Order: sequence, then C-alpha cells, then structure tokens
Amino acid sequence: MLRHTLLAAALTVAACSATGAQQSQPAAHLVIDADLGRDTINRNIYGQFAEHLGRGIYDGLWTRSAGGEWHLRDDVIEALKKLHVPNVRWPGGCFADRYHWQDGIGPRDKRPTIVNTMWGNVTEDNSFGTHEYMELVQRLGAAPFVVGNVGSGSVREMAEWWEYVNFPGRSPMGDLRRANGRSEPWNVRLWGVGNESWGCGGSMTPEHYADVYKNFATFLASYGPGTARAFRVATGPNTDDYRWTEVVMREAGSMIDGLDLHYYTVVGSWSHKGSATQFTVREWFNAFQKADRMEELVTRHAAIMDRYDPRKRVALVVGEWGMWHDAEPGTNPGFLYQQNSLRDALVAAVTLDVFNRHADRVRMANIAQFVNVLQSMILTKGDSMALTPTYHVFEMYTVHQDAVRLPLTLDPGTYELEGQSVPAISASASRDGQGRVHVTLTNIDPNGARTIDADIRGVRVTQVTGRILTAPAMNSYNDFAHPDVVRPVEFRGATVSGGTLHVVLPPHSVVVLELK
Ligand code: AHR
Repeated sequence: MLRHTLLAAALTVAACSATGAQQSQPAAHLVIDADLGRDTINRNIYGQFAEHLGRGIYDGLWTRSAGGEWHLRDDVIEALKKLHVPNVRWPGGCFADRYHWQDGIGPRDKRPTIVNTMWGNVTEDNSFGTHEYMELVQRLGAAPFVVGNVGSGSVREMAEWWEYVNFPGRSPMGDLRRANGRSEPWNVRLWGVGNESWGCGGSMTPEHYADVYKNFATFLASYGPGTARAFRVATGPNTDDYRWTEVVMREAGSMIDGLDLHYYTVVGSWSHKGSATQFTVREWFNAFQKADRMEELVTRHAAIMDRYDPRKRVALVVGEWGMWHDAEPGTNPGFLYQQNSLRDALVAAVTLDVFNRHADRVRMANIAQFVNVLQSMILTKGDSMALTPTYHVFEMYTVHQDAVRLPLTLDPGTYELEGQSVPAISASASRDGQGRVHVTLTNIDPNGARTIDADIRGVRVTQVTGRILTAPAMNSYNDFAHPDVVRPVEFRGATVSGGTLHVVLPPHSVVVLELK
C-alpha cells in the first residue's frame, strides 16, 4: 500500500508540473429547481451484471464449503444488500449466446460440464444455474434480468426457458420446474433477446437482427392476469453505431421495450488498455475524456429513438458500462480481473450522473460487472473480500433510486491538461418520497479544490449534511490487507445561507448532500 501511495504522490507532483501551478478557480454556479421535476430516476439504472466469466460467479458469489456443498457467499450478499441492487443481468454477456439453460437445472451432480469457450476455456460444471440465480436475486431483493440465447440457441429453447420460469399451471416446463423443487413461478419480466448480436452474439447486421429479434420476441408469451408480461430488451448499439439504433428501431421498435447500448471506458486502446492502478495524470485525464462520451452517446441514440418513439415508451438500457483495464498482472487474462481505484469511483459517479440527468429515456443500466470482473463492486480472495471504491459510489447514490430527477443547470468549469479540457464538475439532483433533496457532486480535478455556489429554488433550505468519498492519492485503492483506504466519511465542506448552498469540493472527490 505504501508503495502505491508514494507512486501516486509522485504522479500528482508530476501533474502539477505538467499543468503548471494550479490557479484558484472561480466558483462554479449551479441552479437546482427543487420543486420542479417530472421524471423518476428508475432504480433499474443502478443494476448489476453477473456473467459466467472468470471468478465472477464461481468464487465471487457461489462457493463450496469444506464439506463440498455449494452455496451463495453470505459475506458478499450481506455487503451487496446495502446497494439496494434493483436487478442483476445474467448469464452474460457473450456467454449468454453460448448458454443452454437446461444444462443448469436438476440435481447438481447430474448436470453436464461444458467448456466456457468464451472466457478462458475453463470447465463449467453448471452448478450455478437458473434456481441458484433466482436464489441470488431473491436474497438481494433484486429483480431477475435474464438474457436468452439467440446466437446459438433456438426460438423454442428460449420460449421454453420463459415458460419454465413463468408459467404457473401444468405444462411441460411448469412441471419440470416443480420436479426440480420449485412450485411457484418466479415472474421474470426483464428479458434480453440476445447479447451483442452485432459481435460475439452472432455477427449480425441490424437488418438481420431486427428480423431475428421479432421472431424470438413473438414467443415470449403472455400467460394472462397475474403473470409476468415480458419487458423485452433488444441488442442495442455498440458505442456510436447510430445505424444500428436507426435500423433496429425502425424495423422492430414496436416490439421492443428496451434497447441495450454497450459502452466501456477504455483509457488506452483495446490492445493496451492500461493498468487499473499504475497510471499517469494523462491517463487520469483520458479516463474522464472517455467517460464524458457517455453524455454524447446517450443524447444521440436517444435522439434517434425519439424519431421512432416520440412518447419514449422504449427505454434506452445501458446494459454494459464501466472501466475496462488490463487484467491484473499474474492473473488469467481471460478472467478480466482488475483492481479498482478512486479513478474508477469517479468515473462511476460521473456516468451515473449522466444516467440520472437522462432519466426520461435511460431507465435501466448494468455496470460490468458485479464481483471480481471488470469494474466490480467487490473483490474476493479465498474467504476475504474488499469493497471497491465503486461499491461506495453505488451505496452513496442509492438516494437517487426512484426519486424525482430535478432540473439543474451547471457551469462546470474545466479541468485542463496540455491544451485539452474536460468538465471539472459533474452533478445530478433528485427529490425523494419524503421531500428530501439529494445532490451528488464530483470534482475530477486531481490537483485543486473546486467551489460551487448553488441557488436552490422552490424550497427553503436551512440544513445540509453530506458524505464524501476521496483518498490520499488519485490511484488509491482497497485491497484485502487495507480494505478501508477509500471509503466515505462525513463531509463538512457545505454550508447554506440565505437559500444559497456553498460547497468546497476537495480534489478528486465525490460528495452526496442532503438538503432539508
Ligand atoms: O463484460 C464483458 C464482455 O463485454 C461481455 O461478455 C460482452 O457482452 C462485452 O463485450
């Protein structure tokens, strides 16, 4: 730990010399209309994603006791409960289009083993299947979000999975479920029709996928009153593939409930992404430049959707997002295990603010991924676990779930490096069911504090309390020996007087405020 703190200190000094002495910045101006707001920030924006990949499920969520019995990890589940996880996307990812659900039901010792050709060619024993996943989401209080196999499956296979989890009465699949020990259906609504069908899910053109989608979606039957109606999520665009959105919305939009955009924040290139923890100020800057793209992507894809769906019936789902770094040295590169620093936390905060601000169209999202894979909430090693800085952002942002998004205007100022600039401050605000106003603020400037003067209009604010997430260095992180280097603490940098909120945001920090 000392080693990475010292390295970070050196990098910070380097940053100051690269950017020149930090000038004190003028106060940023923020206006929040606390009595207005129409759209609810759908709690599903705070969704998670658990794929059969590396140690994400096996080890991370599902483990074996000394006696050989498989079970969910109680320590991980208890920690995850604090995030109020709304939904968990499963079983992939690219794995979903290789997964045959009937391999994962019935007595565990009778289930076939397969090779996970997508992720590391490891043997998958199918001990975690449909029933185990349903137990996971039920313990978390989350909704299931199942992604069906389009790429290598059949319409019949997907329709039978739907019947297995949803049909209440006597039927071949309902009877099979009962024979496997579950009498009641699980009422699964959220249903992905394939994953990345433009790539690992089948290398399809949007025209072809639109036809295939309609074919598969037709057989997600409705079983009448009291049973689940499918919320059908179609494969959406890769990053800025606007043509995909255009064609799929035009050809299949009337049968789609959610369109699933995927965008990852990759600091370098796909072949050299960069380290999760050993990075320069330039790589810090690049991360925020790349993360800032989410605002543009959401805006442009939403504009296309507006043409085909002006009433915004179809949700833009950001079904995979987050930072993707090089795998940790010494780990299997196919397992996508990466550390998670303060930088990841700030990227998560900035991205969640984008989703909150676009709550009218973005109504579901899933960070990749839950545990031990990419930008995860928790890392595990044997019986130990560490909460990541990103976990803490998700916990701090629970206040926005199902709250009314408040209109705000912000002049964010800029953080500049070598002639380039990115917005220095990110913000979003909401009003919850009890009338409390919450504001989340992030200062991405690693060198200087930023001040904000905010007019809170429409309510009389007399009190402010808050919490802050920051750390000694921009690349500080938590590990098994030092699990609390990055954690939220009370924030005393905000005051209210005469209806104006004054905030001093320390360098590289995320703050959540409650106004009363
Ligand atoms: O999250 C890792 C992988 O990234 C997913 O399996 C895939 O959908 C995406 O390309």
